[in-house]
Amino acid sequence: MTSSVSALQAVRSAGGYDVGRIRADFPILDLKVNGKPLVFLDNAASSQMPRPVIERLERYQTAEHANIHRGVHYLSETATAAYEGARRTVARFINAPEEREVIYTRGTTDSINLVMHGYGRAFIGENDEIIVSQLEHHSNIVPWQMLCEEKGAKLRVIPCNDAGELLLEEYGRLFNARTKLVAITHVSNALGTINPVKEMIATAHGHGVPVLVDGAQAIPHMKVDVRDLDCDFYAFSAHKMCGPTGIGILYGKARLLEKMRPFEGGGDMILSVTFEKTTYNVIPHKFEAGTPPIAAGIGLGATIDYLEGIGMERIAAHEHELIAYATGQFEKLDGVRIVGTAREKAAVLSFSVKGVHPHDVGTILNEDGIAVRTGHHCAQPVMQRFGIPATARASFYLYNTLAEVDALVAGVRRVQKIFG
Ligand SMILES: Cc1ncc(COP(=O)(O)O)c(C=O)c1O
Repeated sequence: MTSSVSALQAVRSAGGYDVGRIRADFPILDLKVNGKPLVFLDNAASSQMPRPVIERLERYQTAEHANIHRGVHYLSETATAAYEGARRTVARFINAPEEREVIYTRGTTDSINLVMHGYGRAFIGENDEIIVSQLEHHSNIVPWQMLCEEKGAKLRVIPCNDAGELLLEEYGRLFNARTKLVAITHVSNALGTINPVKEMIATAHGHGVPVLVDGAQAIPHMKVDVRDLDCDFYAFSAHKMCGPTGIGILYGKARLLEKMRPFEGGGDMILSVTFEKTTYNVIPHKFEAGTPPIAAGIGLGATIDYLEGIGMERIAAHEHELIAYATGQFEKLDGVRIVGTAREKAAVLSFSVKGVHPHDVGTILNEDGIAVRTGHHCAQPVMQRFGIPATARASFYLYNTLAEVDALVAGVRRVQKIFG
């Protein structure tokens, strides 16, 4: 750690964002990996869990667990109240107009597939068109391709420039009378680009077209207001925002959700069943068949309480400092290319080191205790756009420090020395 970084960090702590205190909430950050302190920079894939969320899960398992929605006994009522309370917390967090517009899913992928099955299969037909962007994660491409295959519909793709910014004029030109849905990511997981989704939603609505936003990489890092965005659907996962795996959210406007078919059939999603006819439950339960991951849902509520306790704006400001500092340091490294240089960028740094395969970069960094992700990041069309098979990607979160950026830079220098 350089002395200038120490000074900067101290000033920041004095200003109220005490990264040391935040780090103390995350037991896993005390790990040593290969004898070195863990430097965890793989947050875009999955982030770590703070002690208040771990403790909330423990409390649930040790004193509150029973199946929900079905019992009149103490534990079932306690678990139901906690699970539905977490739904209220989510609704408030994203400023959803109504709680029933918040559907629990297994994660972003599941949320998008729910819309594909429930909305796409009912309202998108032969020769209809779905607009996606060149920056999408596979989970916002493949479900739509499957729908196109089934229905004879077509995918139209918004291109991006060399910085990784979507070309909005091209986007505007993609609409026609057959356009039935826009499905775009809020933040690119591979490049970090923050897309102007509010503006893009307004454009789509001008053509009478609904919009699904993949918010997997946005919701952990910035204040998201679905009412202000006016999105029709918004999908995200808890595990990328310090929460548990196996749970996520689909927000949808009630008038659309009410028209949609359920994705899965089973218990909890019905009002009545006879062999002649089943009447579906009201939203959101119509989309929540079977016993859900109750603990994970309650954990998601605790996660939101934790993030709000720090403040989403303050988290975003901290991450902005990290990415600005990391970008400046990487620009000084000869033979290192930053992939994704959008003006509006989240704290994601994708890069390649000349003459070194990204997997080798990742392996050598791991020797120093540094966790980065290497590969195509489930976004192969992005890699194709930039003419590369893979990158190394450092992705930062609320507990990362400028000193960890320095460790990353030193690690990359070591990679270059080994391969030099
Ligand atoms: C932009 C984006 N969309 C969707 C997903 C899929 O999320 P999950 O695997 O939690 O369903 C990811 C995960 O990396 C992502 O980054």
